Amino acid sequence: MFQFTALPPLSLYVHFPWCVRKCPYCDFNSHALRPGSGQAVRDGIPEAQYIDALLADLEADLPRVWGRPVRSIFLGGGTPSLFSPEAIERLLAGVRARVPLVPEAEVTLEANPGTVETERFRGYRAAGVNRLSIGIQSFDPEQLQKLGRIHGRDEALAAAQAARTAGFDNFNLDLMFGLPQQTLDEALADVRTALALQPAHLSVYQLTLEPNTLFHAQPPELPDDDAIAVMQEALQAELTDAGFVQYEVSAYARAGQEPKCREAHGRAGAAAGRRCRHNLNYWQFGDYLGIGAGAHAKITDAEGVTRLWKVKQPRDYLEKAGTPAGIGGEQRPGRDDVAFEFMLNALRLTEGVPALLFSERTGLDPACMQKPLTQAMARGLLGPGHEYFRPTPLGRRFLNELVALFLPEPAR
Ligand SMILES: C[S@@+](CC[C@H](N)C(=O)[O-])C[C@H]1O[C@@H](n2cnc3c(N)ncnc32)[C@H](O)[C@@H]1O
Ligand code: SF4
Repeated sequence: MFQFTALPPLSLYVHFPWCVRKCPYCDFNSHALRPGSGQAVRDGIPEAQYIDALLADLEADLPRVWGRPVRSIFLGGGTPSLFSPEAIERLLAGVRARVPLVPEAEVTLEANPGTVETERFRGYRAAGVNRLSIGIQSFDPEQLQKLGRIHGRDEALAAAQAARTAGFDNFNLDLMFGLPQQTLDEALADVRTALALQPAHLSVYQLTLEPNTLFHAQPPELPDDDAIAVMQEALQAELTDAGFVQYEVSAYARAGQEPKCREAHGRAGAAAGRRCRHNLNYWQFGDYLGIGAGAHAKITDAEGVTRLWKVKQPRDYLEKAGTPAGIGGEQRPGRDDVAFEFMLNALRLTEGVPALLFSERTGLDPACMQKPLTQAMARGLLGPGHEYFRPTPLGRRFLNELVALFLPEPAR
C-alpha cells in the first residue's frame, strides 16, 4: 500500500523534437530538419501545428492534475530556440490558461548558439521565459567540429553575451568534457572561458557514448578513465574556487545570490543560489507533466505513481496529440521500483535528501530500505545517521555501486 500525506510539487516539461542537424553523440529524441540554413531551416518546422498539438496534449493531461499548481516549466529538446518568440508566447499563454502557474515559476528555454541572437532572446523574455540554458559543449573550434555542432567558438561566446544583453542574468551554459583526444588543459580552458561569461549556472557533463548514436557506431578516441577522473577533479576545483556550488553530479550553481530558500533546496534551508528548480524537482522525486513528442511524465495520486510517455515520432505526435492514441505507453511501477527510482534520483544530489522526503514522495515505509541503507553505510558510501540520505565523497565517486544497492532484489 502507498500512503501519501501530500502530493509532490508539480512541474511541466515541454519537448521540441527538431534540430538543425543531429549531433553524432546525441541520443535525445531530436530529428534533423532538411538541409538549409537560417530561415529556410526554420521553415521546415510545422510551428503553428506543433503548438496546437502541445496545447491539445496538455488539455488531455489535465484530469490527471486538476487544480495542482505548476512550479516550473522547462522547454527542452531538440532545439526549442528554432521556434519563434511568437510561438513560445502562444504556448506559454495557452499553458497559463489551462494550469495555475505559481507567480515565481522558473521558466527555462534550451537554446543552441547556432540559432539565436539578442532580439530573439528579448522575444522569449517578453513571452515569459526567465531562464536560458545554452548548449555550448566546448569553445574549442576543432572540438566543435568533431562534435558536429552547427556553431563555432564565436557564436558560442556571442550567445552568452546576447542572453545577458537581452536581460537574462539567470542563464546556464552546458559544457561537456572527456571529449575526443581532449587534454586536461583544454578541458580547463573551456570551463575558464565559460566562467568569464559569468553564467548563473553551469552543467558540466562527461561525454558518454550512447547506443544508437554515430559515436557509438564509430567511437572517437576518448581520454581513458584515469584521465577523466583527473579532469573531473580539476574541473570541480576550478568551479568551486570560482564560487560555484556543485549540488548534483553535473550541476553547478553560482552560490548565494538568493535569500535562503526552502523550496529550492529540499528542507536543508541553505542558500539556494541559482540551482535549477525544475531539475531539482526531478531529483527530489517531484511530479511532472510531459507534453511533446516522446515526452515523459510522472504523476502521483492516492494509488501510487504513474509513468506515461507520448508517441515519439514528430509526425505521429502531430496527428495524435491530445487523443488516447497520442499516449505511447503508461505504467504503474511497483513499490520496489518506486523506492529504487527515488534513490536513483536523490543520491545524485551532493547533499542528498532528508530521510522524511522518502516516505513523503514515495508513500512507502522507510523500513523497506533498511537493509540497503545499512549496507551502504557499512561500506562508507552513505553518511551515518537516519535523518538524512547523503552520499559520502566515496559514494559520489562510486555512485553506480551505491545506487545498485537499492535495486529491487531479483535485479541485484
Ligand atoms: C538535449 S541537449 C539540448 C541542448 C541543445 N539542443 C544543444 O545541444 O545546444 C542537453 C545537453 O545534453 C548534453 N548531452 C547530450 N548528449 C550527451 C552525451 N552523449 N554525453 C554527455 N552529454 C550529452 C549536452 O551538453 C546538451 O547541451
Ligand atoms: S543540438 Fe542538442 S538536442 Fe540537437 S542533436 Fe545536438 S545535442 Fe542533441
